[in-house]
Amino acid sequence: MRKVVWDMDPGIDDALALILALKSPEVQVLGIATVAGNAPVEITSANARRVLECLNAGSIPVAMGAANPLNHPLEDALSYHGPDGLGNCGLPSPLTTLYPAKAWDFLARSVSDAPGEVTLVATGPLTNVAYAFELHPELPEFLAGLVLMGGAYSLTPYGKGNQTPFAEFNIWQDPEAAHIVFDSGADIFAVGLDVSMDPAACLNSQHLEQIKTRRTPAAHLVAQLVEYEVKYHGCCRMHDPLALATLLDASLLDFTSARVEVAKGNDWDRGVTRTLSSGSAQLIHVASAVDGSRFLKLFLSRILEE
Ligand code: BDR
Ligand code: CA
Repeated sequence: MRKVVWDMDPGIDDALALILALKSPEVQVLGIATVAGNAPVEITSANARRVLECLNAGSIPVAMGAANPLNHPLEDALSYHGPDGLGNCGLPSPLTTLYPAKAWDFLARSVSDAPGEVTLVATGPLTNVAYAFELHPELPEFLAGLVLMGGAYSLTPYGKGNQTPFAEFNIWQDPEAAHIVFDSGADIFAVGLDVSMDPAACLNSQHLEQIKTRRTPAAHLVAQLVEYEVKYHGCCRMHDPLALATLLDASLLDFTSARVEVAKGNDWDRGVTRTLSSGSAQLIHVASAVDGSRFLKLFLSRILEE
């Protein structure tokens, strides 16, 4: 079982990924840090706890992090994820309180308590992770690995932008943070739009009907989240669950090693992740293909379990 600390911005697909993790014996979620991204940080912090409490996992600590990207104002995605960030799923407000430390110190503490044993999963803008790496420079080396959802690498026909024609949302939101993280020396596995926009890895209305047949709290919540996506976006993209899935079954995705440059600033290319053929940028592992049907099968089997 892998120990995981997770930085997230829930967000419908972050929530789906968290539910998948809580239903999977391969990972143990030690704690969650929340960041502004899909929604303001107060909302993502509430949403992480709403989901945990719904799944009887309210004892997992949640530490709130950055309210804004390093150099840009937040541009949330509530118009995509719904006014509560979770597709109006009707979960009650959280009862549990936040962990009494900032997200970056919480991340650092969780990793330093078990050096070499903890994998960091990051499925939002990388603001908290960048702060953690700047404030605790030993951290990248102490990690067992860093799995992140972010970027579009032109490795498949789907590897284009979703926030702009060229840039993926998480990296676009805080390109300065991504630049710090991609140059940190951590062992990085990046799952980008190249695989998460592959139609074979999306849930559709038939999958939804299957999920609706199960009445567990997890299946009920997943059905509500997926239903919102199918209704308003045609299908349910599984960006963040795919990143988590690399820890459940490494054979689901192929990775290629690449040097990646992140475009900072606020020009047309803000947040673009370019692969370079040479240079001094560190090599990271970038997802280049996914077995979509096997991934969906795994997701559904975990969600439909009693
Ligand atoms: C990423 O952006 C967010 O909207 C999703 O939660 C996912 O992490 C996809 O580009
Ligand atoms: Ca996310």
